[in-house]
Amino acid sequence: MSVGLRVATRDDLPVLATLERSAMAADAWSPTSLAAELHGVPATRWVVVAQQSDQREDPREDRREDAREDGRDARFDARLDGRVVGYAVLRTVGDTADVHRVVVAEGFRGSGIGRQLVDAVVAEAARRGCTQALLEVAETNVGARALYAAAGFALVARREGYYRDGGAALVLRAEVPRRPVQG
Ligand SMILES: CC(C)(COP(=O)(O)OP(=O)(O)OC[C@H]1O[C@@H](n2cnc3c(N)ncnc32)[C@H](O)[C@@H]1OP(=O)(O)O)[C@@H](O)C(=O)NCCC(=O)NCCS
Repeated sequence: MSVGLRVATRDDLPVLATLERSAMAADAWSPTSLAAELHGVPATRWVVVAQQSDQREDPREDRREDAREDGRDARFDARLDGRVVGYAVLRTVGDTADVHRVVVAEGFRGSGIGRQLVDAVVAEAARRGCTQALLEVAETNVGARALYAAAGFALVARREGYYRDGGAALVLRAEVPRRPVQG
């Protein structure tokens, strides 16, 4: 099973809402909040989804062929719903990028999708001219902390009582590499 990344569209809202509820529990954003991320100001918001791209057994072969005739990559066709297995949410203001979500569906974890999503948001932050990326992660979230550490995020602060359950958040920061000079 391989996974491709594409920018989220409005059509992704139902699946993102389901993943959000399941992964974030009491701290989940409502569908309205998620919709605001998807429909919000494109200059400051960016949502990327991870979608299964191994379609050998997909009965909708004809639709994918149509997509190819359109000159579009079928792996990134939003009509092929039901295959979204993760997403990440980025907001950028000035030189700072805030990573608000990185979520991978249970059953798809541990195979590098989370890392792909983190690398994608950092790359987008670089494209937008950001120099640093910040995020909050629950102190108890061992998996996410391992992911962010592997991606180069380091501890800068601790926020007591940040989450609904009273748990502390760690504030992590990574340098965003400069965009390569074009031409
Ligand atoms: C955190 C999360 C996104 C990780 O996604 P994933 O696809 O399983 O992560 P990856 O497979 O890309 O792993 C990336 C790195 O993190 C490590 N890692 C991931 N989950 C881990 C775990 N539970 N325990 C230890 N290490 C873990 C991997 O070993 C890997 O390290 P490496 O690059 O040194 O080998 C996923 O567990 C998740 O969706 N959790 C629920 C939502 C959440 O808490 N998101 C973060 C806050 S928004």
